[in-house]
Formats: sequence, structure tokens, C-alpha cells
Amino acid sequence: MFNCIKSENNVFKNLINGQWLSSKEDNFIEINSPIDNSIVGKIPAMTKEEVDFVISTAKRAQKDWSKVPINERAEILYKAADILVKNIDELAEIMVREIGKDRKSSRSEITRTADFIRFTADTAKNLSGESIPGDTFPGYKRNKISVVSREPLGVVLAISPFNYPINLAASKIAPAIIVGNSVVLKPATQGSLCGLYLAKVFQEAGVPNGVLNTITGKGSEIGDYVVTHKDINFINFTGSTEVGTRISKITSMVPLLMELGGKDAAIVLEDADLELAATNIVAGGYSYSSQRCTAVKRILVIDKVADELVAKVKEKISKLKVGNPLVDDVDIVPLINKKAADYVSELIEDAKNKGADLVAGGNRDGNIIFPTLFDNVTTDMRIAWEEPFGPVLPIIRVKNKDEAIEIANKSEYGLQSAVFTKNIDDAFYIADRLEVGTVQVNGKTERGPDHFPFLGVKASGIGTQGIRYSIESMSRPKATVINLLK
Ligand code: NAP
Ligand code: G3H
Repeated sequence: MFNCIKSENNVFKNLINGQWLSSKEDNFIEINSPIDNSIVGKIPAMTKEEVDFVISTAKRAQKDWSKVPINERAEILYKAADILVKNIDELAEIMVREIGKDRKSSRSEITRTADFIRFTADTAKNLSGESIPGDTFPGYKRNKISVVSREPLGVVLAISPFNYPINLAASKIAPAIIVGNSVVLKPATQGSLCGLYLAKVFQEAGVPNGVLNTITGKGSEIGDYVVTHKDINFINFTGSTEVGTRISKITSMVPLLMELGGKDAAIVLEDADLELAATNIVAGGYSYSSQRCTAVKRILVIDKVADELVAKVKEKISKLKVGNPLVDDVDIVPLINKKAADYVSELIEDAKNKGADLVAGGNRDGNIIFPTLFDNVTTDMRIAWEEPFGPVLPIIRVKNKDEAIEIANKSEYGLQSAVFTKNIDDAFYIADRLEVGTVQVNGKTERGPDHFPFLGVKASGIGTQGIRYSIESMSRPKATVINLLK
């Protein structure tokens, strides 16, 4: 099924108007595995002319697609979910090689995506419009009724990050197309192969020609051109705050949905179940080497219980398996590239130089950073504020819950936070005051389940994802007002 998406020499093609096309130019980007630097494939660096053609194709196809009944669109999504699961072995293998995610997490990303797609179809079938009587507003009579339905926006540009190359592409594509938009997917360069496989899955399921198209090429080269293209009607972006901010500065009059960086805090109070807190901190802080926006990225713990928590976290870190996801079932994998590993090393050195106590890790082998824990981190250290996107966790000891809230809120980010306590009043006291999209009480920070609202405030994003929320974001109300003559 996937043969047509690449040529024999492993050069991948793009899905454009229902055809898998090679680039007209001889300009390709090599995708190397973060595990062993082997070549996983090559992708076209598309030209502006090619981008124009893709977007015009999407624009044309959207008109007919918007007229297809929702139940027919839903059937296509159900099929796509089935095809994804049927091909899980091949897709997971590509994911392991392309982005270095461990095999278990790669497989679970694929099954989660199939569930997401099915739930999107279910949700869209159950969305209904509303009719609003005019006479509920002062001065109006019963003769005016607004009938409100939902309309697609047009061409949605979906830009996905490297770390969830199937899930964070599908979670844009499925809600966009179910409501009648067409989509242009620009996957992260490292992650493009997974994105192209996913596009093939949707095509195989019956998504009509032109409704889903792909663009490959470096964001730094074609990104600005794509996001400012006159025929893009909505941008759904997941990635760094740096790139998200740039997109929001250079675009105008195009609605944006952005999920960006985070510095999620786990706040541990004196009465917390420390075993539960430590388990969640390690699971939330280190999986996929912390290359997750929602990873726990700092621990704010009440001084009195800090020693005990540190001992428990240290003990659990020592059980994490570090290594090569191609051969072992590991927790800690090589970071996505050398630049990412160098950045994490810099943060580690800064913390060491400024006097933080190294409890675990701190060492590196190539692009593998061993799971690292620092205690007695102070607010002058970079690790207190910056998002490492690598397995290093700072512990900041605090006097009380108000100091924890104050430090938590000083971050530029506002994605999620976790609070560990047995006291529901304290949990609500803290949750009410934290400037984040979501507060998890007695659980790790995480996006799922995927029908929950997922959003970041401050530098962590614009708008809200989550199945129903994403559908609503990528559609608009259309009001038809009936003025009764009698
Ligand atoms: P990134 O470097 O910002 O890249 C994200 C996407 O943007 C990629 O497809 C990239 O393409 C593209 N891009 C780069 N420059 C662009 C430009 N000028 N215009 C348009 N697109 C451009 O992020 P990443 O390294 O893939 O992911 C890590 C970051 O994403 C972290 O900060 C993490 O917290 C955040 N993230 C947030 C969430 C969330 O839901 N809040 C989820 C996942 C990740 P190229 O690959 O070709 O550069
Ligand atoms: O990397 C950002 C993702 O949105 C995080 O999703 O919490 O399921 O790992 P996750």
C-alpha cells in the first residue's frame, strides 16, 4: 500500500491532488535517524511554485468536499482509523527509526491516533446547530429566529512537530476535514516520513483528491511563504514558542490555533502521597527523554518533605532504561539531534556551575542524555525557567504553597501544572491561582484523554484543542435569520 509514496532509492514524494508526485527540482533533504545517523529517507525541499500549486489544489477541492454529507466524511475517517491499526507494525518501525521514539510509545501513539480519528467522526456526527429565538433579547418580538449551523473555514494549514509525527498531524487533519475543510500538511522535517505515511492512510481510506495534500521542506526556508500564503484560511500549529511567535507576527487576518512550549510544574505539598508523586514525576518527566510539551519540567516541593521526595524520585530514575530503541525496550532514547543534546548539556553545566546539587545523571553519550535530577535549584539558574526538551529535572524547594504558586506563575509558559496533595481545599486554592491551561490534581501533566480541552496560556499557545474544541476552532457559525411575516 505504501510503495507509491517513495521511489526505489528511498526518495519520498508528496501527496498533491490525489497523486504522489516527485519534486520537479533536484533538491532533497536527507532524513537521518537520531539513533544511528543512518539515512531513513529523503524528502523534497519544495519550491514556492510547488507550494502555490498544492494550495490552489486544496482550495479547489474544498468546495465539493464541503458539500459531502457528514456521515460520508465520518465513514472515511472510520476507515482511516482501521487502516492505521492494520499497518501499525510498519508505521511504528518508521517512527522508531525516524524520531527515535521507543517502540512501545510509537505503537501507543498509533493506536491513540486511531481512537482519536474514530472519536472525531463520532463527535462530528453528534454536533448539532441551534435555533435562537429573538424575543429573549429586550425589545424584540417572537417573529425573529436565528438558525445557526457550522461552516468550514476553507484551507487549513496543519504544521506538526517532530515529537508526535502521526498523532499531532492526525489531530489536526481529522477535525479539519470532518467539518468540510481541505488540509495542507507541512510536517516537521524530522517526522516528514511519518507524516507522508499518514497522508497515504487517509488517501487509502477514501479522502478525495485535493482534500489532503502535503508540503515538505525546511520550515526555515519555506515556512514564512506558506504561512503568509493568501489562500490559507486557518493555521493549526504545534511546535516551539519561538516559531509560533514568529508565525503570529507575520500573519494577518488568519485565525490561529497554536500549541507551543511548556515548563510544567509538579507542586508537591507536605501532606502529599510522596510515592504517588514520585511515580508521576518520573513517568511524566522522563518518558521519550522528556521530548514532550507536557513533560513535568520542574518540581516545586515544600522543604519539609523534599528529602523524602528526592530519595524516591532518585530511586525510580535509577530504574529507567537508557539506550537504543531499535534493539531494546528503553525509556531514555537519544535526543532528536546534536543541537538539542548540546542545549540540554548547556543547561546542565549552568546548573552545576551555579551550585545545584546533582542527584542523578548529568552525563552524556553522544545524543543520549542520562536522566538527570538536580536538587536545590535556585531561580538564578537557567534550568529553573528554560524548556530543556531533554531528560533533566530541577527541584526547587519552597517554604509554602504561596511561594510555589508565585514561582510557578513567574514562568513565561502556561501549559499545565500538577498538584500533589490530599487536601482538596489546597488543591483548589492552588488550581485557582495557577496561570495555566490545565491543572492536574494528583496526576502527571499530560494532554490526554484527547477529548479533554487542551490549551496553553501565555507563551504556551493560542486557542483550544481537544476533539470537539478542535472541530469548533476549525469551523465557524453561520446564522440564517428568519423574519416571520406574520
Ligand atoms: P519547531 O522547531 O517549532 O517546529 C515545529 C514545526 O514548525 C515544524 O514542522 C517546523 O518545520 C515548522 N517550522 C519551523 N520554522 C517555521 C516557520 N518559519 N514557519 C512555519 N513553520 C515553521 O518545534 P519542534 O522542535 O518540532 O518541537 C518541539 C517544540 O514544540 C517544543 O518547544 C515543544 O514544547 C513544542 N510542542 C508543543 C506541543 C503542545 O501541544 N503544546 C506539542 C508538541 C511540541 P521544520 O521541521 O522543517 O523546521
Ligand atoms: O508534546 C506535546 C504533546 O501534546 C504532549 O502529549 O501529554 O500525550 O505526551 P502527551
